[in-house]
Amino acid sequence: MKAMILDAPGGLDRLRQVDRPDPGAPGPGMIRVRLHATSLNYHDYGVVTGRMPTEDGRIPMADGAGIVEAVGEGVRDFMAGDAVVSCFFPDWQEGPPRIGDFSRVPGDGIDGYACELVVGPATAFTRAPKGYSHAEAATITTAGLTAWRSLVVDGGLKAGDRVLVLGTGGVSIWALQIARMMGAQVAVTSSSDEKLERARSLGAAHMINYRTHPEWGKLVHDWAGGGVDHVIEVGGPGTLAQSIDAVRIGGHIGLIGVLTGFAGDVPTATLMSKQARLQGLIVGSRRMQMEFVRALDEATFRPVIDRSFALDELADAFRYQESGDHFGKIAVTF
Ligand SMILES: NC(=O)c1ccc[n+]([C@@H]2O[C@H](COP(=O)([O-])OP(=O)(O)OC[C@H]3O[C@@H](n4cnc5c(N)ncnc54)[C@H](OP(=O)(O)O)[C@@H]3O)[C@@H](O)[C@H]2O)c1
Repeated sequence: MKAMILDAPGGLDRLRQVDRPDPGAPGPGMIRVRLHATSLNYHDYGVVTGRMPTEDGRIPMADGAGIVEAVGEGVRDFMAGDAVVSCFFPDWQEGPPRIGDFSRVPGDGIDGYACELVVGPATAFTRAPKGYSHAEAATITTAGLTAWRSLVVDGGLKAGDRVLVLGTGGVSIWALQIARMMGAQVAVTSSSDEKLERARSLGAAHMINYRTHPEWGKLVHDWAGGGVDHVIEVGGPGTLAQSIDAVRIGGHIGLIGVLTGFAGDVPTATLMSKQARLQGLIVGSRRMQMEFVRALDEATFRPVIDRSFALDELADAFRYQESGDHFGKIAVTF
Protein backbone atom coordinates (compact mmCIF):
# COMPACT_ATOMS: atom_id res chain seq x y z
CA MET A 1 0.00 0.00 0.00
CA LYS A 2 1.04 3.59 -0.63
CA ALA A 3 1.89 5.81 2.33
CA MET A 4 3.47 9.20 2.84
CA ILE A 5 6.25 9.28 5.42
CA LEU A 6 8.24 12.06 7.02
CA ASP A 7 12.02 11.74 7.25
CA ALA A 8 13.67 13.26 10.33
CA PRO A 9 14.11 16.04 11.27
CA GLY A 10 11.03 17.05 9.22
CA GLY A 11 10.37 19.76 6.63
CA LEU A 12 8.03 19.75 3.65
CA ASP A 13 10.79 18.50 1.32
CA ARG A 14 11.24 15.49 3.63
CA LEU A 15 7.78 14.11 2.91
CA ARG A 16 7.95 11.21 0.46
CA GLN A 17 5.71 8.44 -0.85
CA VAL A 18 6.69 4.84 -0.09
CA ASP A 19 5.26 1.34 -0.47
CA ARG A 20 4.50 -0.30 2.85
CA PRO A 21 3.38 -3.90 3.48
CA ASP A 22 -0.33 -4.59 3.58
CA PRO A 23 -1.35 -4.46 7.29
CA GLY A 24 -3.24 -7.78 6.96
CA ALA A 25 -6.38 -9.03 8.67
CA PRO A 26 -7.72 -7.34 11.82
CA GLY A 27 -7.18 -9.12 15.15
CA PRO A 28 -9.70 -9.16 18.01
CA GLY A 29 -11.22 -5.73 18.62
CA MET A 30 -9.60 -4.28 15.47
CA ILE A 31 -10.90 -3.11 12.10
CA ARG A 32 -9.26 -2.91 8.70
CA VAL A 33 -10.05 0.39 6.96
CA ARG A 34 -9.37 1.40 3.36
CA LEU A 35 -8.69 5.10 3.74
CA HIS A 36 -9.82 7.56 1.06
CA ALA A 37 -9.20 11.00 2.57
CA THR A 38 -7.44 13.06 5.18
CA SER A 39 -7.58 16.79 5.87
CA LEU A 40 -4.93 19.32 6.89
CA ASN A 41 -4.70 20.91 10.31
CA TYR A 42 -2.31 23.40 11.79
CA HIS A 43 -1.15 20.65 14.17
CA ASP A 44 -0.21 18.40 11.22
CA TYR A 45 1.63 21.37 9.72
CA GLY A 46 3.64 21.68 12.96
CA VAL A 47 4.62 17.99 12.70
CA VAL A 48 5.55 17.89 8.99
CA THR A 49 7.61 21.08 9.20
CA GLY A 50 9.57 19.62 12.12
CA ARG A 51 8.43 22.25 14.63
CA MET A 52 6.83 19.44 16.61
CA PRO A 53 9.49 16.73 16.33
CA THR A 54 8.32 13.18 15.73
CA GLU A 55 9.87 9.79 14.96
CA ASP A 56 11.83 9.24 11.73
CA GLY A 57 9.54 7.65 9.11
CA ARG A 58 6.30 8.73 10.76
CA ILE A 59 3.13 8.55 8.65
CA PRO A 60 1.61 12.00 9.26
CA MET A 61 -2.01 13.24 9.46
CA ALA A 62 -4.48 13.01 12.34
CA ASP A 63 -7.64 12.89 10.21
CA GLY A 64 -8.62 9.76 8.30
CA ALA A 65 -11.84 8.67 6.60
CA GLY A 66 -12.65 5.56 4.63
CA ILE A 67 -14.52 2.26 4.44
CA VAL A 68 -14.30 -0.72 6.77
CA GLU A 69 -13.05 -3.75 4.82
CA ALA A 70 -13.07 -6.32 7.65
CA VAL A 71 -13.72 -6.49 11.38
CA GLY A 72 -11.94 -8.61 13.98
CA GLU A 73 -13.47 -10.86 16.59
CA GLY A 74 -15.64 -9.08 19.13
CA VAL A 75 -16.17 -5.87 17.10
CA ARG A 76 -19.83 -4.85 17.45
CA ASP A 77 -19.79 -1.16 16.39
CA PHE A 78 -18.92 -1.69 12.72
CA MET A 79 -19.24 -4.10 9.85
CA ALA A 80 -17.60 -4.34 6.43
CA GLY A 81 -18.81 -1.56 4.14
CA ASP A 82 -19.35 1.05 6.88
CA ALA A 83 -18.02 4.57 6.28
CA VAL A 84 -15.86 5.58 9.25
CA VAL A 85 -13.75 8.48 10.46
CA SER A 86 -10.81 8.47 12.86
CA CYS A 87 -10.63 9.93 16.38
CA PHE A 88 -7.96 12.48 17.37
CA PHE A 89 -7.50 10.79 20.77
CA PRO A 90 -7.86 7.04 20.19
CA ASP A 91 -7.53 6.44 23.95
CA TRP A 92 -10.03 9.05 25.20
CA GLN A 93 -13.34 7.29 24.87
CA GLU A 94 -15.56 9.40 27.15
CA GLY A 95 -15.75 11.40 30.35
CA PRO A 96 -13.61 14.39 31.34
CA PRO A 97 -10.20 15.01 29.70
CA ARG A 98 -7.26 13.09 31.16
CA ILE A 99 -4.77 13.54 28.31
CA GLY A 100 -2.66 16.70 27.92
CA ASP A 101 -0.21 15.76 25.20
CA PHE A 102 0.07 14.35 21.68
CA SER A 103 1.97 11.15 22.51
CA ARG A 104 -0.84 8.91 21.22
CA VAL A 105 -2.28 11.23 18.58
CA PRO A 106 -2.21 9.74 15.04
CA GLY A 107 0.26 11.53 12.79
CA ASP A 108 2.27 12.78 15.78
CA GLY A 109 3.00 10.31 18.61
CA ILE A 110 1.84 7.32 16.53
CA ASP A 111 1.41 6.74 12.79
CA GLY A 112 -1.43 8.65 11.16
CA TYR A 113 -3.63 8.36 8.12
CA ALA A 114 -1.64 9.55 5.06
CA CYS A 115 -1.84 5.98 3.76
CA GLU A 116 -4.20 3.68 1.88
CA LEU A 117 -4.85 0.99 4.50
CA VAL A 118 -4.84 0.78 8.26
CA VAL A 119 -5.63 -1.86 10.86
CA GLY A 120 -6.44 -0.33 14.22
CA PRO A 121 -8.71 -0.58 17.26
CA ALA A 122 -12.41 -0.19 16.43
CA THR A 123 -12.49 2.28 19.34
CA ALA A 124 -10.21 4.65 17.40
CA PHE A 125 -13.02 5.34 14.88
CA THR A 126 -16.64 6.43 14.76
CA ARG A 127 -19.07 6.12 11.91
CA ALA A 128 -19.03 9.02 9.43
CA PRO A 129 -21.99 11.42 9.07
CA LYS A 130 -24.65 10.07 6.67
CA GLY A 131 -24.08 11.03 3.04
CA TYR A 132 -20.72 12.70 3.61
CA SER A 133 -17.90 12.27 1.09
CA HIS A 134 -14.72 10.84 2.60
CA ALA A 135 -13.05 14.27 2.35
CA GLU A 136 -15.96 15.91 4.18
CA ALA A 137 -15.92 13.21 6.85
CA ALA A 138 -12.17 13.61 7.39
CA THR A 139 -12.67 17.25 8.41
CA ILE A 140 -14.62 16.34 11.54
CA THR A 141 -11.79 14.52 13.38
CA THR A 142 -9.83 17.60 14.40
CA ALA A 143 -11.30 20.90 13.17
CA GLY A 144 -14.98 19.96 13.33
CA LEU A 145 -14.90 18.27 16.72
CA THR A 146 -12.87 21.10 18.27
CA ALA A 147 -15.46 23.67 17.13
CA TRP A 148 -18.35 21.44 18.28
CA ARG A 149 -16.83 20.79 21.70
CA SER A 150 -15.96 24.43 22.33
CA LEU A 151 -19.38 25.77 21.34
CA VAL A 152 -21.78 23.00 22.29
CA VAL A 153 -20.14 20.72 24.88
CA ASP A 154 -18.09 23.25 26.87
CA GLY A 155 -19.99 26.39 25.83
CA GLY A 156 -23.60 25.19 26.11
CA LEU A 157 -24.43 27.15 22.93
CA LYS A 158 -28.13 27.90 22.43
CA ALA A 159 -30.31 29.55 19.80
CA GLY A 160 -29.98 33.32 19.82
CA ASP A 161 -26.45 33.30 21.29
CA ARG A 162 -23.83 35.58 19.76
CA VAL A 163 -20.58 33.91 18.62
CA LEU A 164 -17.27 35.35 17.44
CA VAL A 165 -14.97 33.29 15.22
CA LEU A 166 -11.43 34.48 14.44
CA GLY A 167 -10.23 34.15 10.86
CA THR A 168 -11.57 31.82 8.19
CA GLY A 169 -9.48 28.67 8.63
CA GLY A 170 -10.69 25.13 9.23
CA VAL A 171 -11.78 25.40 12.88
CA SER A 172 -13.37 28.82 12.48
CA ILE A 173 -15.49 28.00 9.41
CA TRP A 174 -16.65 24.79 11.09
CA ALA A 175 -17.58 26.91 14.15
CA LEU A 176 -19.48 29.37 11.95
CA GLN A 177 -21.46 26.53 10.37
CA ILE A 178 -22.20 24.80 13.70
CA ALA A 179 -23.28 28.09 15.29
CA ARG A 180 -25.66 28.79 12.39
CA MET A 181 -27.04 25.23 12.60
CA MET A 182 -27.82 25.85 16.28
CA GLY A 183 -29.55 29.20 15.61
CA ALA A 184 -26.79 31.52 16.83
CA GLN A 185 -25.66 34.85 15.29
CA VAL A 186 -22.03 34.95 14.18
CA ALA A 187 -19.37 37.63 13.79
CA VAL A 188 -16.26 36.75 11.76
CA THR A 189 -12.88 38.44 11.50
CA SER A 190 -10.49 38.00 8.59
CA SER A 191 -7.48 39.58 6.91
CA SER A 192 -9.39 39.44 3.60
CA ASP A 193 -12.55 41.30 2.56
CA GLU A 194 -13.17 38.65 -0.08
CA LYS A 195 -13.14 35.90 2.54
CA LEU A 196 -15.50 37.97 4.70
CA GLU A 197 -17.95 38.01 1.79
CA ARG A 198 -17.72 34.21 1.59
CA ALA A 199 -18.40 34.07 5.34
CA ARG A 200 -21.49 36.23 4.79
CA SER A 201 -22.75 33.74 2.22
CA LEU A 202 -22.48 31.04 4.93
CA GLY A 203 -24.69 33.08 7.25
CA ALA A 204 -22.26 35.35 9.14
CA ALA A 205 -24.09 38.45 10.37
CA HIS A 206 -21.14 40.73 11.11
CA MET A 207 -17.77 40.86 9.34
CA ILE A 208 -14.61 42.73 10.38
CA ASN A 209 -11.23 42.94 8.67
CA TYR A 210 -8.76 42.56 11.55
CA ARG A 211 -5.96 44.20 9.53
CA THR A 212 -7.86 47.42 8.87
CA HIS A 213 -9.60 47.32 12.29
CA PRO A 214 -6.98 46.19 14.83
CA GLU A 215 -9.34 47.16 17.70
CA TRP A 216 -11.96 44.69 16.53
CA GLY A 217 -12.80 43.54 20.07
CA LYS A 218 -14.85 46.65 20.87
CA LEU A 219 -16.57 46.57 17.46
CA VAL A 220 -17.70 42.99 18.08
CA HIS A 221 -18.74 43.84 21.64
CA ASP A 222 -20.94 46.69 20.39
CA TRP A 223 -22.40 44.62 17.52
CA ALA A 224 -23.49 41.99 20.07
CA GLY A 225 -25.12 44.64 22.26
CA GLY A 226 -22.76 44.17 25.20
CA GLY A 227 -20.41 41.38 24.15
CA VAL A 228 -20.62 37.93 22.59
CA ASP A 229 -21.52 34.76 24.49
CA HIS A 230 -18.74 32.65 22.94
CA VAL A 231 -15.38 33.27 21.27
CA ILE A 232 -13.54 30.67 19.15
CA GLU A 233 -10.02 31.90 20.08
CA VAL A 234 -7.62 30.42 17.51
CA GLY A 235 -5.09 33.28 17.55
CA GLY A 236 -3.57 32.97 21.03
CA PRO A 237 -1.42 35.69 22.61
CA GLY A 238 -1.74 38.18 19.74
CA THR A 239 -5.56 38.13 19.74
CA LEU A 240 -6.61 37.19 23.28
CA ALA A 241 -6.81 40.77 24.61
CA GLN A 242 -9.20 41.72 21.78
CA SER A 243 -11.22 38.54 22.37
CA ILE A 244 -11.58 39.48 26.05
CA ASP A 245 -12.83 42.92 24.95
CA ALA A 246 -15.33 41.21 22.64
CA VAL A 247 -16.82 38.76 25.17
CA ARG A 248 -19.80 39.65 27.36
CA ILE A 249 -19.72 39.69 31.15
CA GLY A 250 -20.00 36.03 32.15
CA GLY A 251 -19.24 34.87 28.58
CA HIS A 252 -17.04 32.00 27.39
CA ILE A 253 -13.77 31.98 25.44
CA GLY A 254 -12.61 28.64 23.97
CA LEU A 255 -8.80 28.92 23.99
CA ILE A 256 -8.00 26.76 20.98
CA GLY A 257 -5.17 28.06 18.85
CA VAL A 258 -1.62 29.29 18.75
CA LEU A 259 -1.56 31.06 15.36
CA THR A 260 0.19 34.11 16.84
CA GLY A 261 2.55 32.24 19.22
CA PHE A 262 2.78 30.06 22.30
CA ALA A 263 2.98 32.59 25.17
CA GLY A 264 2.23 36.23 25.88
CA ASP A 265 0.59 38.81 28.12
CA VAL A 266 -2.98 38.29 29.31
CA PRO A 267 -5.03 41.27 30.55
CA THR A 268 -5.96 39.38 33.71
CA ALA A 269 -7.80 42.27 35.39
CA THR A 270 -10.14 42.73 32.40
CA LEU A 271 -10.74 38.98 32.22
CA MET A 272 -11.53 38.91 35.93
CA SER A 273 -13.85 41.92 35.86
CA LYS A 274 -15.66 40.41 32.86
CA GLN A 275 -16.15 37.25 34.99
CA ALA A 276 -15.55 35.41 31.73
CA ARG A 277 -14.67 31.73 31.46
CA LEU A 278 -11.43 31.03 29.58
CA GLN A 279 -11.38 27.33 28.69
CA GLY A 280 -8.35 25.63 27.19
CA LEU A 281 -9.18 22.56 25.14
CA ILE A 282 -7.70 19.96 22.82
CA VAL A 283 -10.23 18.44 20.40
CA GLY A 284 -12.48 15.96 22.29
CA SER A 285 -13.43 12.40 23.18
CA ARG A 286 -14.81 9.64 21.00
CA ARG A 287 -18.18 10.02 22.76
CA MET A 288 -18.25 13.73 21.79
CA GLN A 289 -17.47 12.75 18.19
CA MET A 290 -20.34 10.24 18.15
CA GLU A 291 -22.75 12.92 19.40
CA PHE A 292 -21.37 15.38 16.83
CA VAL A 293 -21.89 12.86 14.01
CA ARG A 294 -25.49 12.30 15.18
CA ALA A 295 -26.08 16.08 15.03
CA LEU A 296 -24.52 16.28 11.54
CA ASP A 297 -26.88 13.53 10.30
CA GLU A 298 -29.69 16.06 10.85
CA ALA A 299 -27.86 19.10 9.43
CA THR A 300 -28.44 20.53 5.98
CA PHE A 301 -25.01 22.14 5.48
CA ARG A 302 -21.75 20.51 4.38
CA PRO A 303 -18.22 21.40 5.55
CA VAL A 304 -16.35 23.80 3.29
CA ILE A 305 -13.46 22.18 1.42
CA ASP A 306 -11.45 24.83 -0.33
CA ARG A 307 -9.20 22.52 -2.34
CA SER A 308 -8.27 18.84 -2.62
CA PHE A 309 -4.88 17.33 -3.42
CA ALA A 310 -3.65 13.82 -4.26
CA LEU A 311 -1.72 11.77 -1.68
CA ASP A 312 1.67 12.32 -3.34
CA GLU A 313 0.92 16.08 -3.41
CA LEU A 314 0.78 16.28 0.39
CA ALA A 315 3.70 18.73 0.57
CA ASP A 316 1.96 20.99 -1.99
CA ALA A 317 -1.20 20.84 0.10
CA PHE A 318 0.77 22.10 3.11
CA ARG A 319 2.40 24.81 0.98
CA TYR A 320 -1.09 25.94 0.07
CA GLN A 321 -2.06 26.01 3.77
CA GLU A 322 1.15 27.96 4.46
CA SER A 323 0.09 30.59 1.91
CA GLY A 324 -2.97 31.40 4.02
CA ASP A 325 -5.10 31.64 0.87
CA HIS A 326 -7.50 28.91 1.96
CA PHE A 327 -11.02 29.36 3.29
CA GLY A 328 -12.20 26.45 5.46
CA LYS A 329 -10.54 23.08 4.97
CA ILE A 330 -7.92 21.60 2.65
CA ALA A 331 -8.33 17.89 1.87
CA VAL A 332 -6.18 15.10 0.45
CA THR A 333 -8.08 12.31 -1.32
CA PHE A 334 -6.86 8.91 -2.50
N1 LIG B 1 -6.92 23.06 20.67
C1 LIG B 1 -7.35 22.28 19.70
O1 LIG B 1 -7.97 21.25 19.92
C2 LIG B 1 -7.15 22.67 18.28
C3 LIG B 1 -7.76 21.97 17.25
C4 LIG B 1 -7.60 22.42 15.94
C5 LIG B 1 -6.81 23.54 15.70
N2 LIG B 1 -6.22 24.15 16.74
C6 LIG B 1 -5.43 25.37 16.54
O2 LIG B 1 -6.30 26.37 16.04
C7 LIG B 1 -5.59 27.21 15.14
C8 LIG B 1 -6.30 27.23 13.82
O3 LIG B 1 -6.21 25.95 13.26
P1 LIG B 1 -6.81 25.65 11.81
O4 LIG B 1 -6.52 24.22 11.52
O5 LIG B 1 -8.19 26.15 11.73
O6 LIG B 1 -5.81 26.55 10.94
P2 LIG B 1 -5.95 27.06 9.45
O7 LIG B 1 -7.04 26.36 8.74
O8 LIG B 1 -4.60 27.03 8.86
O9 LIG B 1 -6.43 28.57 9.67
C9 LIG B 1 -5.57 29.65 9.55
C10 LIG B 1 -6.42 30.92 9.44
O10 LIG B 1 -6.38 31.61 10.67
C11 LIG B 1 -6.52 32.97 10.44
N3 LIG B 1 -5.54 33.76 11.21
C12 LIG B 1 -4.21 33.72 11.12
N4 LIG B 1 -3.68 34.63 11.94
C13 LIG B 1 -4.72 35.26 12.52
C14 LIG B 1 -4.83 36.34 13.44
N5 LIG B 1 -3.76 36.97 13.91
N6 LIG B 1 -6.07 36.74 13.81
C15 LIG B 1 -7.17 36.10 13.33
N7 LIG B 1 -7.12 35.09 12.45
C16 LIG B 1 -5.90 34.69 12.06
C17 LIG B 1 -6.35 33.24 8.97
O11 LIG B 1 -7.66 33.59 8.46
P3 LIG B 1 -7.83 34.77 7.38
O12 LIG B 1 -7.12 34.30 6.15
O13 LIG B 1 -9.32 34.87 7.22
O14 LIG B 1 -7.25 36.02 7.97
C18 LIG B 1 -5.86 31.89 8.44
O15 LIG B 1 -6.33 31.60 7.15
C19 LIG B 1 -4.15 26.66 15.11
O16 LIG B 1 -3.35 27.35 16.04
C20 LIG B 1 -4.33 25.22 15.54
O17 LIG B 1 -3.16 24.69 16.13
C21 LIG B 1 -6.34 23.74 18.01
